[in-house]
Amino acid sequence: MRTPIIAGNWKMNKTVGEAVELCRQLEKEVADSPVEVVVCPPFTALSAVNALGLEKVKLGAQNLYFTEKGAYTGEISPGMLVDVGCEYVLVGHSERRELFKEDNQLINKKLLKAVEFGLKPILCVGETLEERQAGETEKVVLSQVREGLAGVEAEKIPSVVIAYEPIWAIGTGETSDGEDANKVISAIRRAVGEMYTPELGGKVRIQYGGSVKPGNVAEFMEQSDIDGALVGGASLKASDFAGIVKF
Ligand code: 13P
Repeated sequence: MRTPIIAGNWKMNKTVGEAVELCRQLEKEVADSPVEVVVCPPFTALSAVNALGLEKVKLGAQNLYFTEKGAYTGEISPGMLVDVGCEYVLVGHSERRELFKEDNQLINKKLLKAVEFGLKPILCVGETLEERQAGETEKVVLSQVREGLAGVEAEKIPSVVIAYEPIWAIGTGETSDGEDANKVISAIRRAVGEMYTPELGGKVRIQYGGSVKPGNVAEFMEQSDIDGALVGGASLKASDFAGIVKF
């Protein structure tokens, strides 16, 4: 059985004070949930959220660099994330791919470093509208998965989470329908099974992301291969995010 995992990607939002307030409230609202709950605040708020000593809500970062330390102005290392209590880290979010030109090779380096430091990566994959319209969804998404996971040892695969986020559904109010998302996610699971073993393919948790809200989350969570959600906008308000967790 795969434990469902719902994560909030706050993107470039929230001051330290706002982050602390949101997490305090969220911790209370989701305390009894069987779902694994993760928040990914901006780097500046990680330390303060960690200091709250939350028991239910886990901490993730939105990005990392693939080197331990050195002259990389503006970057954050995996060890620094571990130091501030991160358990998870997003890797290869579509905004990183599009706006900051991250490719599968760079994302793979980051993912391998995250795993080496004991962080659990959430590898984000997804197709553009043009790719979908050209019938290339699976081709694009599966190559993101294969290239992103290249070189990850089999024993680490159960700690990897994959988030399928069709780019056209992010922040647009458009969502994939549950069955459609499940088809792509099943294909991702099969691809992981082919890279490793079908058993490991069955262990990896795969989320859907893209305009997930309290009102539509159930449509995704009831699908056979969807194990959770990666939530942007609706994770910025504790009551909305808690509504999603309690789908
Ligand atoms: P929205 O939920 O705002 O569409 O964002 C999705 C996302 O990018 C999460 O990583």
